[in-house]
Amino acid sequence: MQYEPGCKDCGCYLIVREVRYDDMKHVVDIERKSFKYPYTVLTFITLMNLYPNYFLVCEYCGRVVGYVSAAVGKDGYGHIISIAVDPEFRGRGIGKLLMGNVESRLYGDGINKFKLEVAVSNQIAVKMYSSLGYKVSKVLSRYYPDGEDAYLMIKDLSSS
Ligand SMILES: CC(C)(COP(=O)(O)OP(=O)(O)OC[C@H]1O[C@@H](n2cnc3c(N)ncnc32)[C@H](O)[C@@H]1OP(=O)(O)O)[C@@H](O)C(=O)NCCC(=O)NCCS
Repeated sequence: MQYEPGCKDCGCYLIVREVRYDDMKHVVDIERKSFKYPYTVLTFITLMNLYPNYFLVCEYCGRVVGYVSAAVGKDGYGHIISIAVDPEFRGRGIGKLLMGNVESRLYGDGINKFKLEVAVSNQIAVKMYSSLGYKVSKVLSRYYPDGEDAYLMIKDLSSS
């Protein structure tokens, strides 16, 4: 898969930066295009207020095309809460770019174990997480409102 560094039209670069209030409508739009059970704007604003360093967007030629949000739990894990890329911009390396950025920020803050939940049917996301070093730790039975199971996936850098 090719990583596209910038916009073909104006030559600008992809930017990954912390989310701002005025990004929220775009984040919610991407969320709604991406998930059967999307998070609400209130949830996103709460995440932004609690973990501003770990809520990142990717901007492509001035347009928000993806986001990732993470939190830090009492268990010490960096918890990837949600990630999505606008369907028009998928398959260009943006998902991995966002994951790499948020993991680096967490790691820089001394967090070396990461976790996330993903629907067992979401093969693309499972493949992305596996390629980034996440391993299935267990199956969370009926995790989603429609009864679908999730994988709990973990990446542990503490022993490396
Ligand atoms: C999962 C998601 C964020 C990936 O974003 P993306 O920008 O398309 O991902 P990338 O281009 O960085 O690709 C990352 C990896 O995903 C996998 N992948 C991406 N597109 C794929 C496809 N069409 N088929 C199979 N694997 C694919 C590959 O492993 C790829 O790594 P590689 O290029 O080294 O092989 C995106 O598909 C998305 O927004 N999905 C809907 C929301 C979602 O499911 N989020 C995760 C919830 S837990």
